[in-house]
Amino acid sequence: MQNRSFYVKSYGCQMNVYDSQKITSILESKGLKNKLDPKSADLVIFNTCNIREKAAHKLYSDIGRVNQLGLKKTIAVVGCVAQAENSEMFRKNKSIDIVLGPQSYHLLPKMLDDLENNFKQINTDFIVNEKFDYLSEQMRPQGVSSMVTIQEGCDKFCSFCVVPYTRGPEYSRPIKSISDEVKLLSQKGAKEIVFLGQNVNAYNDKSNNNDAKLSDLIRAISEFDSVKRIRYTTSHPINMDEELIQEHKSNMKLMPFLHLPVQSGSESILKKMNRKYDPDFYRRTIDRLKKAKPDIEISSDFIVGYPGETDQDFNDTLKLIDDIKFTQSYSFIYSSRPGTKSSTEADNTPISVKKERLLVLQEKLKKIQYSFNNEFCNKTVKVLIENQSTSNPEYFFGRTPFMQSVYIKSNDLVPGHEKDIDITSCNHKSLYGTC
Ligand code: SAH
Ligand code: SF4
Ligand code: F3S
Repeated sequence: MQNRSFYVKSYGCQMNVYDSQKITSILESKGLKNKLDPKSADLVIFNTCNIREKAAHKLYSDIGRVNQLGLKKTIAVVGCVAQAENSEMFRKNKSIDIVLGPQSYHLLPKMLDDLENNFKQINTDFIVNEKFDYLSEQMRPQGVSSMVTIQEGCDKFCSFCVVPYTRGPEYSRPIKSISDEVKLLSQKGAKEIVFLGQNVNAYNDKSNNNDAKLSDLIRAISEFDSVKRIRYTTSHPINMDEELIQEHKSNMKLMPFLHLPVQSGSESILKKMNRKYDPDFYRRTIDRLKKAKPDIEISSDFIVGYPGETDQDFNDTLKLIDDIKFTQSYSFIYSSRPGTKSSTEADNTPISVKKERLLVLQEKLKKIQYSFNNEFCNKTVKVLIENQSTSNPEYFFGRTPFMQSVYIKSNDLVPGHEKDIDITSCNHKSLYGTC
């Protein structure tokens, strides 16, 4: 392998961040040095996201910036744009050397070797289990809060979304391979485990005559003494089964916080989106969760300006936000993605109206978030300390059970410990405290 050093840039979801960590481990195990900026690296890897047009476009401007550095570098495009655009990428940008889809990162070292003899390298096959077999051997410490991918892909085909095309069909990792990975992460200091999946609560391991659901996996992992907190993301409302809801009631290691994207509060828009539930179903699901776990808090994703969204549809979304009181959320203007069902639907709403709606929605979410955070002021809350600030060592960072970020001024905190922190102030994003 000629490339002695590499730089990886992640775009997109947590799963991409996790994959980038795995890529880093693989290349380090082959003797390559990880660099924190592209200038000093021989190999530049872009781990791409295709979810919205903006994310995909950013890639090409970033490649341009690397080329402007003037030094010949090997450029690898991996991830969801690589999967979607395939060999077309070589035509769009001549400086790309490798195109590699999300299921085949274990092939990267071989592709780098082969690059020495051949011109360009490409692999966009869907063979998920093979990826996990190879990648689970590669492990570098992640930190107090560590992610573990347990499920990949999606069979839901929401009309707006590229994920079923870029990540392929749903696949669940065997429970044994996940628990081995959790053990290793625990030995390296992990106290919180975050299970990842595009449809994480559709998890169903059927290998070796198993029939393990997400609730079974959570129960199994919570038996490890070293694991103090468990979270999972991202869930689909139709997969919130009774066992999982009851797990929230009975399992004290499962945090009282759930990211459950609703996308819209309008019945007709949800139908057009092919989300497979209506607002009533979503409300009932939250009621069931709150009955089982009264202090659970909910966060969501919203898409504003889906083709044909009327003022009434948008108001239905605002009403749902008022009713549920989401304590954290991500919201986006609808982006038409090539190959998806909704990309062919008529869309007559001006972009200025969509932007205005996004602003109104985000203002509402922000207010709710602030008033939730404000309830913690002058109170004590249990925080898992994740790290110490490098630039300002008298500050530590941690999270509450409800995922709020907390910045703590202290001289004697230890990352990995859970501590009662006195909250002194807040804004809509974070809490501030002392100890
Ligand atoms: N599996 C998750 C979402 C994964 S994608 C779920 O079903 O909820 C993350 C988020 O990106 C989505 O929740 C959605 O809000 C947003 N998103 C996906 N496709 C989009 C598009 N075409 N335009 C705008 N936002 C989109
Ligand atoms: Fe995309 Fe829908 Fe699958 Fe989520 S459930 S990844 S939004 S297709
Ligand atoms: Fe983006 Fe792929 Fe994740 S499209 S959101 S990186 S699954």
